[in-house]
Amino acid sequence: MNDVVNYVIDGNLAVVTVNNPPVNALSQAVRQGLLEAIRAAAQDDCKAVVIHCDGRTFIAGADITEFGKPHAEPLLPDLLNEIEASDKIVVAALHGTALGGGFETALSCHYRIALEGAKVGFPEVKLGLLPGAGGTQRVPRLAGVEAALDLMLNGAPVAAESAANLGLIDRVVDDSLLDEAKRYARELVESGARPRRASELQVAQADATIFDAAAAVVAKKARGQTAPPRIIECVRTAMATSFADGQKRERELFTESMKDPQSAAMRHLFFAEREAAKLAGLSKDTPKREINSIGIIGGGTMGGGIAMSFANAGIPVHMVEINDEALARGLSIIDGNYAGSVKRGKLSEERATQCRGLITGHTNYAALADVDLVIEAVFEDPELKKEIFAKLDKTCKQGAILATNTSYQDVNEIAKATNRRSDVLGMHFFSPAHIMKLLEVVRAEKTADEVLATVMALAKRIRKVAVVSGVCYGFIGNRMLQGYFREAQLCLVEGGTPESVDAAMVGWGMAMGPISVADLAGLDVGYKARQALPEDERGDPAAYRVADVLVEAGRLGQKSGKGFYIYDPETRKQSPDAEVHEIVEREAAALGIARRAIDAEEIVDRLIYALVNEGFRILEEGIAQRPGDIDVVYIYGYGFPVWRGGPMHYADAVGLDRVLARINEFRERFGEHHWTPAPLLEKLVGEGRGLADWAERA
Ligand code: 3HC
Ligand code: NAI
Repeated sequence: MNDVVNYVIDGNLAVVTVNNPPVNALSQAVRQGLLEAIRAAAQDDCKAVVIHCDGRTFIAGADITEFGKPHAEPLLPDLLNEIEASDKIVVAALHGTALGGGFETALSCHYRIALEGAKVGFPEVKLGLLPGAGGTQRVPRLAGVEAALDLMLNGAPVAAESAANLGLIDRVVDDSLLDEAKRYARELVESGARPRRASELQVAQADATIFDAAAAVVAKKARGQTAPPRIIECVRTAMATSFADGQKRERELFTESMKDPQSAAMRHLFFAEREAAKLAGLSKDTPKREINSIGIIGGGTMGGGIAMSFANAGIPVHMVEINDEALARGLSIIDGNYAGSVKRGKLSEERATQCRGLITGHTNYAALADVDLVIEAVFEDPELKKEIFAKLDKTCKQGAILATNTSYQDVNEIAKATNRRSDVLGMHFFSPAHIMKLLEVVRAEKTADEVLATVMALAKRIRKVAVVSGVCYGFIGNRMLQGYFREAQLCLVEGGTPESVDAAMVGWGMAMGPISVADLAGLDVGYKARQALPEDERGDPAAYRVADVLVEAGRLGQKSGKGFYIYDPETRKQSPDAEVHEIVEREAAALGIARRAIDAEEIVDRLIYALVNEGFRILEEGIAQRPGDIDVVYIYGYGFPVWRGGPMHYADAVGLDRVLARINEFRERFGEHHWTPAPLLEKLVGEGRGLADWAERA
């Protein structure tokens, strides 16, 4: 038909092959080719049509790169309606991942056969969209309302076998997909089967409470997102009206979603996440070292979680602790975590035992002599870390990669403790490390390309989203967070309460308010760090006085049952505390601050623009490779709302000129100490440019 869709007659069948690497996305050429193929089959002397794909997967969806551009015919819903209307039986043969528009294509075919291991689903919701080519109308007809809601609201793909149980796939085979698909099509023809059109089925009536229940889940799990309620409306419409009317409504809501800034933000993240894995100036062919075993030093909060991340990916881990007691404590936390996963149904007992079996504990560094990569996760003490790296230098085999999980320390200095600086880098995991997806990979001055490429590939193996950062205090994420936390504390003493500051940020979309985050992390951590500094290096006292008073009163946060809030010892439920309000007022008076009403808008702008301004400095200094990398860090590591696209995308969407104007206003009001605009921000505004064309400029 064309370069990407092939059509051949094979006996009494027409075989249509899509070949549009890498994932057979439904570009205009693919849609055109499929349309011509289905029309050719109508004319040809064949009895049935088989649609399948070359390469690693069946169609993985609409071509996301075409979104936001003018429509190019044929439109997908029209194409799929024409495929479904075919008088000749159409069989879809699925392998790899049939997603979004790809699965909708399969559902417009009359019968579906899949290779074992194939996955199907509707990830549109993760792009701020809904299935827009009949999916919201065909799935309820084939699998019922509940399954439809579940698949489309969740967005996660399901195994072909599960889809078969739901009635979405007719046959699953374990080998030779195309041959089996042809055999299936011929069987259907010989048995006198007719085209079976999902659009002609009735939706089984379901209790209306299903929709309310789905809406309640969405309000909690996808707070602030606009696509999920639209999906619910489409499925509700499917139950209430004809296929044609339902599809019309689906089209309207799909178009609304496509124009919604939320979808632009989420599509930005889709590409940013993939881009982040690429290293500017490093070729794809950079050699990588083999990593078959890991050493971890320190089995505390982070070491245990990091060990689990590797064990869960099937990689053996040797964990070294300071003594038997500490080791037993570390291992028992790991045991508890696995038991919890089994209890919550996240992991089978057998799998948990298998993974746990890959972690062995030691109290001697000799256990690390043969491992391929060591990650140090001991206390945040630079001298201790250097001592350990010197020891690793002597113990580990040549070629082993040496990584530190430090949150703030200078990785260049740590590397200098060894005679193999090119093998040293930072691997900054986030807590809890076996759950959080983000990994900041810290590239030190001398880190070899090969080492970096190895660790980036390894991150994918353990299902982390890796972002490269240069060396600076706090790297990308924690460095930016300093201004955010500073402003949270300042808003508190200038007129807020812990509740008002948190509510403003949660209302804006953050997963958790900054004051609650501080309580969760432990107020003593920052306190100790400040105490170690001379007073004139501790920053603005207004930004830490309240926290210091709380710590000195034994209020360390969640772990001591009290911090900025009070926590129920059993349920950990948080409640406001009048005593804290009094402390805040007293400290404000002591600092000479006249408290005033601070509204949510001011709180949000001060906290978010503090992040953004530092983000621009980080970009300018080359600490982050690109704005999208910063966004990925904030989405995966800091509970930033995905539908706002990350701090840098958000700033771009607001308009950099408006962001700069607000920062300048803050400078006037609060002084230039905290509010000097980043030179790069000023430069871009001066040039009338945004961040969207960053890649072209690089
Ligand atoms: N459109 C355009 N490009 C796509 C794409 C798509 N739908 N899906 C993947 N790609 C690109 C990626 O950007 C990447 O490009 P790069 O190599 O230049 O970075 C390349 O294909 C390979 O992708 P991955 O690195 O993600 O490869 P994996 O093997 O890890 O994953 C996948 C494959 C599971 C298919 C994953 O790419 C994926 O989830 N893709 C998105 C699927 C999706 O969201 N589909 C729904 C689209 S919306 C839709 O269909 C609307 C409809 O209802 C009307
Ligand atoms: P932790 O205090 O929970 O654990 C540290 C462990 O290291 C302890 O179990 C201790 O016994 C062990 N240890 C100390 N000296 C040792 C030595 N010489 N040899 C072997 N083991 C030794 O600390 P946590 O929170 O796990 O932090 C570890 C590192 O990870 C720090 O650098 C921290 O900055 C960083 N980090 C912490 C995060 C967090 O949220 N807790 C997040 C990201 C990084």
